[in-house]
Amino acid sequence: MVQKLIDQIRVLKAERRAVLLAHNYQPPEIQDLADFCGDSLGLSLQASKTDAEVIVFCGVRFMAETAKILSPGKTVLLPDRTAGCPMAEMITAGQLRELKDRHPDALVVCYVNSTAEVKAESDYCCTSANAVAVVQSLPRDRPVIFVPDQHLGRFVAQRTGRDLILWPGYCPTHAYISEDDIRRAREQHPDAVVIAHPECSEPVKDLADALLSTGQMIKFVRTSPAPCFIVATEVGMIHPLKKARPDAEYIPAGSRGVCPNMKKITLEKVLTSLADRQYPIEVPEEIRRRAERALQRMVAILPEK
Ligand code: 13P
Ligand code: SF4
Repeated sequence: MVQKLIDQIRVLKAERRAVLLAHNYQPPEIQDLADFCGDSLGLSLQASKTDAEVIVFCGVRFMAETAKILSPGKTVLLPDRTAGCPMAEMITAGQLRELKDRHPDALVVCYVNSTAEVKAESDYCCTSANAVAVVQSLPRDRPVIFVPDQHLGRFVAQRTGRDLILWPGYCPTHAYISEDDIRRAREQHPDAVVIAHPECSEPVKDLADALLSTGQMIKFVRTSPAPCFIVATEVGMIHPLKKARPDAEYIPAGSRGVCPNMKKITLEKVLTSLADRQYPIEVPEEIRRRAERALQRMVAILPEK
């Protein structure tokens, strides 16, 4: 049954000249089928350079929107129209405009986990992989507003030594990972290295050995000699880590780090998406043009090696 679905998807994908992009948190069978699987920065780079006619985005809405903004001539499809990111909804363009009015000299950096309207109000976009490099590139005499993730913002403030004007947004999935989860996992696996996503809370990050985007986690385990890793991010991440270094053991930090929106994408929905061109992402041109400026600056600033 599953193999039949996969075969049908492959046939339709070729007929439609489509490419399948998947985030590292997607269900394993989606990751394995995708033409490219990666973190938000890698996916944005792929979306901006693909020559496919159709992009089927296996992830959440802001990712598909980013692909559409960077490749407006292509059809971008999100297989489940309700797959959103609660963090991206935590600030509106109107709220950001008010914040800018209160800090008229400030430059605005928005995390890619944001709506197209918020990107259009921003000077720079960033992902967790290049947020530090983006903020480091900004003139030191200008204040910086960072939205919407307060936790990534604090991580960037610490790494750059800059005071950032933060917004109280957060990822509900990463908020479920607690200090106790890390402590318990460490007790059970004393030889493990703790890798955490910067979206985690500050107490969790303080207990981690390395703070990394999902793509950086893959590079990290490939080169680390550690036999075991405690993984403080969405559980889907265990799958690409195992593929990257199968001989190591991976322990999810707690059992509640599941992003329900990422899990809405299924093989059946991918097939329907290709067959019926569901659900096309559209961004009004005036917003798209302004959001593209911030995104182009983001893809031009790669993280330090
Ligand atoms: P990265 O893959 O860019 O690290 O982002 C994590 C995330 O939460 C995406 O929604
Ligand atoms: Fe949004 Fe968090 Fe899910 Fe990422 S893991 S898509 S930040 S809710």
